Amino acid sequence: MRVLVVGNGAREDALSWKIAQSPSVETLFATPGNAGTASRATNWNIPVTDGKTILERAQAENVDLVVLGPEVAIAAGVGDRLRDAGIAVFGPNRSGGRLESSKVFAKRFMERHGVPTARAAIVHSLASANKALDEWTGDGVVVKADGLAAGKGVVVCDTVDEARDVVKNWYTNNKIPGGGTDVLLEERLSGREVSVFALADGRAMVPMAAACDYKRAGDGDTGPNTGGMGAYSPPYDFPIDMYDQVRERILAPVLRGLLAEGETYIGVLYCGLMWTEDGPYVIEFNVRFGDPETQVLMPRINGDFAGLLKSCADGAMDLTLATLSTQSCVGVVLATNDYPRSNTPLRGLNPDVSLPEGAQAFWGGSALVDGSVETGGGRVLTVTALGETIADARSAAYDAVKSLAKRLDTSELSYRTDIGAVR
Ligand code: AMP
Ligand code: GLY
Repeated sequence: MRVLVVGNGAREDALSWKIAQSPSVETLFATPGNAGTASRATNWNIPVTDGKTILERAQAENVDLVVLGPEVAIAAGVGDRLRDAGIAVFGPNRSGGRLESSKVFAKRFMERHGVPTARAAIVHSLASANKALDEWTGDGVVVKADGLAAGKGVVVCDTVDEARDVVKNWYTNNKIPGGGTDVLLEERLSGREVSVFALADGRAMVPMAAACDYKRAGDGDTGPNTGGMGAYSPPYDFPIDMYDQVRERILAPVLRGLLAEGETYIGVLYCGLMWTEDGPYVIEFNVRFGDPETQVLMPRINGDFAGLLKSCADGAMDLTLATLSTQSCVGVVLATNDYPRSNTPLRGLNPDVSLPEGAQAFWGGSALVDGSVETGGGRVLTVTALGETIADARSAAYDAVKSLAKRLDTSELSYRTDIGAVR
């Protein structure tokens, strides 16, 4: 099979690494890819949202399966275009992508179909926001911009006054992240967060794996929000019937809703959940794999992962093709020191990030230029390791970080030291 992975982050490096190990895969392409995918795939220089050029090239190269990494490709309708031309795609159409690209759409969808989620007011102006806040009951308010905002569209407020300041700033300065006009004011839930990744083939939706990520920049969950500074899988200390509860309470009504609305959803549904005293509640859906969660999921998968994705894309999910290891995996993100305030490009990095068996490093947005790696800054590498327990995986991951830090010879990278620390 000839496979194309769309995207350029550490998520796509991890996906392409696992896909390349699949016995059914003969040739691999990535667009635009990165320094990591370059070692196993042919990188194309086509932007992820340019569906027309991706389709032309995929046809010329007889691609059998396209795996969509980033939400912007899905929101741009790349999946629709390829699928309409008869190419198998793992990733939803633009309409299914609205579960991520519009938080208002997702909230209304959940309300229509009885999916447990935080109560929310949807507002369109400063006046309607203030009115909703005048009537607010409950402890805390989460203010969310409707559109895709690259992780910057959510502010968790302890008080109604704090929420007033946020909406005032967003509306009066025309600064709503993502550029839309709608804002959600959401009840603040408490509990533990977990991300469950469900596979979908248009007819069924099945939990594949779960992970926990770390959103704050600093140790002890301090500092600003980021795209994610590390992750581990599997989560521990969740109910033993966690997947049954997710299946019954979340995935079953979501699937019923999608089918009732005529949506053939193919790909992965990332359910960002808050596990409350009352069971799982959805805090967000994403319509693609997570970053950095994917970097800790891929090392746990054995078998023909590409075959499994192709079976979903063909509408006939075959879960026998791949299995999930009982081992644990911890991943630590190495980011430039100024992340997430700004992204300073970093050049001249050693491309050799090979590690002993059981550990693996994945490049973020980067390119191999004249034998060295250039990155745009931000999240540069995710360093992962497997172990029998989370504690074993954590210690192996930090050993790998230390050995790589020496090899990369850079003082310009920082990382959290508490990823996978057992609470
Ligand atoms: P999101 O972009 O929707 O995942 O939100 C980012 C983060 O904000 C989440 O990972 C949570 O930590 C927090 N958050 C979002 N919605 C809620 C909520 N309703 N209650 C409590 N925390 C929330
Ligand atoms: N790790 C969060 C995300 O991928 O959206």
